[in-house]
Amino acid sequence: MIPSVRKYLTISLLLLFITPACGQRSQVGQSETPSPAVSQSADLDKETVIGEIGNPGVGDRYFPMLGNGGYDVTEYDLQLTWDPNLRFLSGSATIYGTSNINLLSLNLDLSGMKVLSVSMDDANLQFFVEENELTVVFPSVLIKNTDFSITVDYEGTPGLINDSLFPFEGGWFNSARGVLVAGEPSSSQAWHPVNDHPKDRAHFNISMTLPSDLSFVTNGVLVSKSSDAKSTTWEYETEHEQAPYLTTIAIGKFSQTFEQTFDEIQIRHWVEEGVQFPSQENLNLETMIIIFEELFGPYPFGDYGILAVNENLGYALETQTLSIFGKDLVGNQQIQAHELAHQWFGNFITLDDWSDIWLNEGLATYAEQLYLEKVNPNYNIDESFFEYYYSLSDQGYEFHVKPRPGDPGPTALFSSSVYIRPAMALHALRLEMGDPLFFQSLREYVRTFGGKSATPEGFIETFEDNANKDLELFFQQWLFEDQLPPR
Ligand code: TRP
Ligand code: ZN
Repeated sequence: MIPSVRKYLTISLLLLFITPACGQRSQVGQSETPSPAVSQSADLDKETVIGEIGNPGVGDRYFPMLGNGGYDVTEYDLQLTWDPNLRFLSGSATIYGTSNINLLSLNLDLSGMKVLSVSMDDANLQFFVEENELTVVFPSVLIKNTDFSITVDYEGTPGLINDSLFPFEGGWFNSARGVLVAGEPSSSQAWHPVNDHPKDRAHFNISMTLPSDLSFVTNGVLVSKSSDAKSTTWEYETEHEQAPYLTTIAIGKFSQTFEQTFDEIQIRHWVEEGVQFPSQENLNLETMIIIFEELFGPYPFGDYGILAVNENLGYALETQTLSIFGKDLVGNQQIQAHELAHQWFGNFITLDDWSDIWLNEGLATYAEQLYLEKVNPNYNIDESFFEYYYSLSDQGYEFHVKPRPGDPGPTALFSSSVYIRPAMALHALRLEMGDPLFFQSLREYVRTFGGKSATPEGFIETFEDNANKDLELFFQQWLFEDQLPPR
């Protein structure tokens, strides 16, 4: 939170709530219609409940302002209207969550949008906006473990998130053709109020009203589409919880193709006009899914597909069940395998802290190699990957060695070394453990941490337990030194 707001809240609210004069909770708070979400129970009535100011960050080592403390979100219900001519978004976001401390106020992340009102159970709440933080003040303490819903009405022209620590631009990209939302570690706060950290996953229910000549695409399942004379409302729901940065949006001329169900997974792609989408022979997701299910365990979600954008994006992003590809990379099988593997590593298992990024990128990069090994009988990981990169460092090339992947720092979060070196480590570990034990450990890691956040300690322990060996030094050498470990 911004110091001035924090100071104001600390002085005015703490005095209100904590001084003996306000022992009667019913007198506390200025709202005429006290919210039922605030506990009014008789046993608390006579007590002084000391509330805390919800933290403006969730405690991430690299991005201290991402996420917030004191509550967990279960669902975002976003009702949006887009005017493409004015590039103007009007939103009403209802955030369903649960307090995990006694809250005087809580924060949401929101960047560059104007907040019109904030309410809880039809009562308006006081709020402050400063930089990328929206502070919502409760009329009286929101007791720990209370389910609440807060509605934020807001509007503006969304854009990119202004945060000097981010490695790349992220947020809401406007173009002449339409809109694309993409970014890691964040894009959500550019267009809706959010607890913007992968630690706090939630369901998304998104409805968008826009002119009928445009399509609206986001993750999950299209549950309804209705039109009047000029505009169409599209509504999507996610079946599983997802980290906010894994939510994407695309607006433009998109059509849904290749709808089919395979192994109870609905495969569908959203392809923008003008994109040459690869044929099924060239993009064989079925084969990829079968290979990865065998290696990692069942595909964790109910649908998958590609959002193919008519632009040379220069990247792909593993947005949940709908990976983003530009037309430049959509035909690249290795990157297809990478983004698919992220559905297990990064999406089903999320990060607890952005400094642990190697857990996502190392595993997705190694998965590319596993895929190549399975589909090409002549492919040799040892030579083409492991020895190849070792020999590059022998020759003095160090892009895959530094920065140290275990702690690359925020602005170097997606350095090559964060991708390649942990993948080399995984291969070295596989060589040491042998295939049966290695893949058994990998599947156990998915079973243990799927649907949760993982930590490097949890990952390493899973392999240690199976190998019956202390692997601390092994991982120390592979992730935290300035050179590759000696062969
Ligand atoms: N996670 C993405 C991948 O591995 C790459 C990525 C990192 C990215 N940061 C991004 C993509 C920001 C788009 C925007 O494929
Ligand atoms: Zn990746």
